[in-house]
Amino acid sequence: MLVLGLETSCDETGVALYDSARGLLADALFSQIDLHRIYGGVVPELASRDHVKRMLPLIRQVMGDAGVTSAQIEAVAYTAGPGLVGALLVGASCAQALAFAWGVPALGVHHMEGHLLAPMLEAQPPAFPFVALLVSGGHTQLVRVDGIGRYHLLGESLDDAAGEAFDKTAKLLGLDYPGGPEIARLAQTGTPGRFVFPRPMTDRPGLDFSFSGLKTFTLNTWQQCREAGDDGEQTRCDIALAFERAVVETLTLKCRRALKQTGLNRLVIAGGVSANRSLREALGKMLGEFQGQVFYARPRFCTDNGAMIAYAGCQRLLAGQHEGPAISVQARWPMERLPPV
Ligand code: KG4
Ligand code: ZN
Repeated sequence: MLVLGLETSCDETGVALYDSARGLLADALFSQIDLHRIYGGVVPELASRDHVKRMLPLIRQVMGDAGVTSAQIEAVAYTAGPGLVGALLVGASCAQALAFAWGVPALGVHHMEGHLLAPMLEAQPPAFPFVALLVSGGHTQLVRVDGIGRYHLLGESLDDAAGEAFDKTAKLLGLDYPGGPEIARLAQTGTPGRFVFPRPMTDRPGLDFSFSGLKTFTLNTWQQCREAGDDGEQTRCDIALAFERAVVETLTLKCRRALKQTGLNRLVIAGGVSANRSLREALGKMLGEFQGQVFYARPRFCTDNGAMIAYAGCQRLLAGQHEGPAISVQARWPMERLPPV
């Protein structure tokens, strides 16, 4: 089955064509980062308007790259939530209009399920069951995954998501949006051990996370440095490293607990923060203890993209799932409510 996938949940317009027999045929992305950078974060109205501008040219580009005509496309999948409502509505209306015009089914995909399944696009995909660590700008969750739509939430963040913590910490250090890659870049030249930040919620049992205290700790440290006149580039790098280590070690410790609790030795990491090299390394090392393996998508499929939506949509469409022509999106949408495949 040949599926067109559209992603517009936040600040990236993603389009891809995935074929169940031939794999990923083409994908294209337009990132709005430059548009939002001067505001230090995503401006929803600007995001929606830009999705409108980019969507059709990107679809034409992807169809051209894949050498596919509209007559060959058998279904349209789009991100139906969670995300910014205005941005989601652009993808949903475009998908429904195309599906109607082409006489093919449409299906709304859960954005986090898209992230979760993105490693399936790689050469050595993980087999079910596995534990998944979903770490994006809006979510931090540990999930036991027994199959598509068979999700059991093991733990989640009680406040900021991991990516959000990266972004907010970067902002208070005066770094550009999005903060995750910036913190990671600075951390590379940080001095190990100069600052040691807390590992939140690791001293008590359970698999939930909390990152807002870490952000406050960073703010206090930075303020103390500034008052002492020690606010140069090296101090920024040292703080970035201390922050990144605290997040990576906290996530690693909770993943170890989740693997012990479930008795599994396969771990999938997905979402923007799964692009982080230190996190990948730390988890890879930890999985060695379990004679297991950590799976992740190539960096550009860790952050938002159309390929993951086309793939996830295709799996559900193949199982006969699709929807009527109504245009409906959901800003909040618990993943456990999805039907199994
Ligand atoms: O999955 P994603 O593209 O969007 C959401 O669904 O939220 O994730 C974006 C998040 C941002 O918070 C960004 O700062 C973070 O992923 N991120 C990173 C890295 N690359 C992106 N965080 C840490 N290290 C990175 N290399
Ligand atoms: Zn995302």
